[in-house]
Amino acid sequence: MTARNGDGSPPVAYVEELSNHVGERVTVRGWVAGTRSSGRIRFLIVRDGTGLVQGVVTPDADAESFDLAEHLPLETAVKVEGEVRADERAPGGVELAVDHVLPVHVPQEEYPIAPKEHGVGFLMQRRHLWIRGLKQMPVLRVRDGALWAMREFFKERRFVATEAPILVSTSVEGTTTLFTVDYFGQPAFLSQSGQLYLEATCAALGRVYWIGPVFRAEKSKTRRHLTEFWMLEAEVAYVEHEENLRLQEDLVRYVVQYVAEEHRRELEALERDRKLLLDEVAEPFPSISYADAVELVRRAGVDMEHGQDLGAPAEDELSKHFGRPVFVERFPVGIKPFYMKRCSDDPDVALCADLIAPEGYGEIIGGSQRVDSQEELEQQLREAGLPEEPYQWYVDLRRWGSTPHSGFGLGVERTVAWLCGIAHLREAIPFPRMLDRLEP
Ligand code: 4AD
Ligand code: MG
Repeated sequence: MTARNGDGSPPVAYVEELSNHVGERVTVRGWVAGTRSSGRIRFLIVRDGTGLVQGVVTPDADAESFDLAEHLPLETAVKVEGEVRADERAPGGVELAVDHVLPVHVPQEEYPIAPKEHGVGFLMQRRHLWIRGLKQMPVLRVRDGALWAMREFFKERRFVATEAPILVSTSVEGTTTLFTVDYFGQPAFLSQSGQLYLEATCAALGRVYWIGPVFRAEKSKTRRHLTEFWMLEAEVAYVEHEENLRLQEDLVRYVVQYVAEEHRRELEALERDRKLLLDEVAEPFPSISYADAVELVRRAGVDMEHGQDLGAPAEDELSKHFGRPVFVERFPVGIKPFYMKRCSDDPDVALCADLIAPEGYGEIIGGSQRVDSQEELEQQLREAGLPEEPYQWYVDLRRWGSTPHSGFGLGVERTVAWLCGIAHLREAIPFPRMLDRLEP
């Protein structure tokens, strides 16, 4: 048995930094993710949120620890002490020669998520536990990295982070997906997008963004739709359509490169091809008009008419064709919201673009140049059948100091799903909200 340090326990180290402590005794604080035995050696797999380490327990450890190593159930909260040893075969290049095992909490019931295949319904019902899973933890860490990269990108460019309210009295993206709440006896809505407010703050601060939750009462059960999701939105005064596209392209490339560099371990755990991701953003993103996109996908056998929104089959076809993020520009005004400026050479199409991710991850960004004339805005509100009164403050932005301005909204979960290579958005957020899911 190895002697313990003077105060009884060696310094705490997180699994992700163990390779800096080879030859030292450390304490790892975590949870039991697996146990197995081989002859007189016991293996205790411990996860601590930063990664997994294999603890090797031999009869040299104290007798109680040696015994515990065999019997601790899955998800026991545990502290293990031991020497960090280099081991090329181990994930992260190290293992822990455990000499002391200190259970913190030993479950009395069997952990419901055994390391076998479970149906998604079963797992979703236990999402509060499922997030501990070996494929779930890395996704949430990539999400954190992606959000961090977005903030860093905008900080570097001297944008101001400025928030939009969630309780609102207006719709942004059509009235069919509004959640209504009772606001002291008056109907109010949960925000579908912070855009209208960002247009106001951008006239105050020039370049603004926010990252926040938004809500859509989507009655569709697709793998690409949540009812509550996070959006990154940016809005810039004096910026027109083309420059808006370059900003989006730079942002997406920045986020992908950041995650590919800083989250190698997570991408490896997810078996995500880093090189493919990097290649996808290496070259300038192509653009195609809506009209040409419809032609292209129809030729490929997708059943759609000119004037319909791009559905999943059309988006998938475009992503297959380009193999890179692609901007689809110049949508018919009829399928776009009231706030978009129209193209000067064709008033039937909007000065806008959607960015379609590669590999079938669908639309990750929607953006446009905004209407900047008061008359046109009032006209477009009427055409959309929206009431004038609640939008008065928004019209005011065109009364005083109106400038050309543009912005966009990026879906955080769709971007994370693409980065991680996971098929369904429900795994790209800790607690997804969907048509049929409000729990846990
Ligand atoms: O295209 P959308 O609806 O655009 C807007 O809301 C604009 N007001 C944004 C702006 O210009 N400031 O939504 C933006 C992005 C989509 O491209 C998609 O990635 C994501 O948000 N998104 C969803 N993600 C998950 N679930 C849903 N139901 C989503 N709806 C849109
Ligand atoms: Mg859109």
